[in-house]
Amino acid sequence: MEPTISHADATTGGAVILATLEAVAERHGDPTEAIYSELFAAHPELEKLFWLDRDGSVRAAMVQQAIECIMDQVGDGRAAVTIMADERSRHGGYGVPTERFDAFMIALRDAFRRILGAEWTGAMEQAWSRLLADFAAIR
Ligand code: HEM
Repeated sequence: MEPTISHADATTGGAVILATLEAVAERHGDPTEAIYSELFAAHPELEKLFWLDRDGSVRAAMVQQAIECIMDQVGDGRAAVTIMADERSRHGGYGVPTERFDAFMIALRDAFRRILGAEWTGAMEQAWSRLLADFAAIR
């Protein structure tokens, strides 16, 4: 069955999502550490899944893939649906329960909110909620 995803809705907040990514890059640079701090604070049991990732390359690749999916989803949206669905099922094999898979995008959004502090706007809150709901619906 085709995933039910409302791409037109996702693009409405697209400019806001892109502005968030730019502001985070400008204020903070690489957000990788901030994202995993949020993830492991919310779900400490997930940290042990990365015990083989000594150089952090898997963690960095996940952030990279997530940001590519976000940019795609607010753009033409052709690749994100397939990539997210594939990653969700592949991660089952890594020991990530499907309901925990969404925790990564939540941690990413929460890290961005924390980094931007007073610069985080209501429009950002709305656009990110919508985007995360769209990703969570991709199965
Ligand atoms: C809480 C959610 C998640 C957890 C706990 C998690 C955990 C992991 C783990 C443990 C691996 C390494 C698997 C191995 O090599 O044995 C991995 C790899 C990977 N994950 Fe995640 N993941 C999560 C969410 C995501 C999301 C949302 C994406 C993409 C949008 C993603 C993209 C990737 C990619 C691309 C790799 C392969 C990295 C590489 O080997 O170069 N992950 N993930």
